[in-house]
Amino acid sequence: MAENLAPEPWWQGAVLYQIYVRSWQDTNDDGYGDLRGVISRLDHLRWLGVDAIWLSPTMPSPDADWGYDVSDYTDVHLELGTLDDVDELIEAAGTAGMRVLLDLVPNHTSSAHPWFIDAASARDSAHRHYYVWADPAPAGGPPNNWLDATGRSAWQWDDRTGQYYLHNYLPEQPDLNWWVPAVHEEFRQILEFWFDRGVAGFRIDVAHGLYKDSLLRDNPVAEDHGPLGSRFGFSAVYSANRPEVHAVYRDWRQIAERYAPPKMLLGETWTGDFGKLAQFYGANDELQLAFNFPFVFADFSAPALSGVVAQTFAHLPAGACPVWTASNHDVGRFATRWCGNDERKIRLALLVLATLPGTTVLYYGDEIGMTDVDVPAGERRDLMTASRPDPAASRDRGRTPMQWDTTAHAGFTSAQVQPWLPVGDTAGRNASPEGRPPGSPRDVAGQMQDPDSTLWFCRRLIALRRAEFGGRPAGYQQLASAADLWSYRVGEITVLANFSGQRRPAAPPAGQILLSSSGKDPAGGEVVLEPWQGVLYRTS
Ligand code: GLC
Ligand code: CA
Repeated sequence: MAENLAPEPWWQGAVLYQIYVRSWQDTNDDGYGDLRGVISRLDHLRWLGVDAIWLSPTMPSPDADWGYDVSDYTDVHLELGTLDDVDELIEAAGTAGMRVLLDLVPNHTSSAHPWFIDAASARDSAHRHYYVWADPAPAGGPPNNWLDATGRSAWQWDDRTGQYYLHNYLPEQPDLNWWVPAVHEEFRQILEFWFDRGVAGFRIDVAHGLYKDSLLRDNPVAEDHGPLGSRFGFSAVYSANRPEVHAVYRDWRQIAERYAPPKMLLGETWTGDFGKLAQFYGANDELQLAFNFPFVFADFSAPALSGVVAQTFAHLPAGACPVWTASNHDVGRFATRWCGNDERKIRLALLVLATLPGTTVLYYGDEIGMTDVDVPAGERRDLMTASRPDPAASRDRGRTPMQWDTTAHAGFTSAQVQPWLPVGDTAGRNASPEGRPPGSPRDVAGQMQDPDSTLWFCRRLIALRRAEFGGRPAGYQQLASAADLWSYRVGEITVLANFSGQRRPAAPPAGQILLSSSGKDPAGGEVVLEPWQGVLYRTS
């Protein structure tokens, strides 16, 4: 098994692939994807060339937040499979040259977790201090102004024991109290449990949030009103983002380093501040990877994206490996958010994601340019966004079943079964890339038959990246960033990217064209880029 896997630190320069397990492949006809479905579709990922898969939560959960409310950290959700399935998946993925990462949720448990059931049973219960309890404010009501992820008070009154408990997400997700050493010890054991089983690492949920202000001070009004700076108008300075969290990651890194190869920790580091993002890497003694949300939320324009990339490299400590991603189960799909479902832009985005030095994380379906799906109100499953009037706020849009083929339910489950979320429309084709009407089919099987499809393009990008960078991130040098043109050099590769709907002349780099995002290579001599075209050159 080991000889099929890339050498360590394998995650630097790797392509990771996020699978939202419930929406990937159903194998037992209950309408939910499952671990056997992940095993059954490994061939697709091997063909695509990814290095590792990150599975959205797999642990037992009452599913108030689809697994992000964990009721047992050392087992598998009944609907998704068994521990034996995890073992088999790790083995099968390893044989196919891929590692397996799980999602770890240390900020909160489910209210159905035995720790919380005990904690809420009496003030002097053994696990009371595992959670954040507080008395009402002097004038009555919640202890402070913190808001949960739905916009309501983050404090839930508990009648039985006469105190409030904190939930930064849903009331069914009580926050753990990281000021308590026993909580640290519990999670050390959880890490070891999965590492010993062969899990290659974790994506760490709400990695910035574990510690809360010990004085429970009010959050200030937000100055930055973007998604990273504001939670319903307040800045989460005290309800999350406390500096004490770094000691946790130094501790976990030591555990990770006890293994050969070391285990990998990838944080959901929700911050718009590049300095704070950099801190999660520590002095190469905390997380090895930290998600870059300013990149996710940047406009799809040359100045915005190149600006984030420049800021990232300016702040990250030497040797730290940045992470480039554009879609996930919370923010939806870049094909829609960035690209308005325009296949030319989708390919340009993939080209950029695949060529920036660092680690790239694709979300299932990105490789076929899968778009968000309008989920009718009556079919939505996400409680967190259920009360938001804007249907576009529903996270269900980016969580619909993988579109494998054009059979019933796009091959996700059997014809007679009702999938847990509606399946996108696989009839027809995506909007056409310049010069190549019509665009790609909307399913894997259809794109597989068309060597000019987005799927094949994505595979070529991944292969080229491996061949050119040898898996290790090369240096980044910005060559040009005009309103409509972004050009950069990475190792021997020069990227020319036209971020506009107009044809764009550009100074040609000396060298040979390796790949173009449209069917057409720019004509010889003078380089005129087609609208939204990206071209890769090998320069010397
Ligand atoms: C993270 C997850 C999100 C979840 C929340 C609470 O942001 O990505 O899906 O709802 O944490 O666990
Ligand atoms: Ca199933």
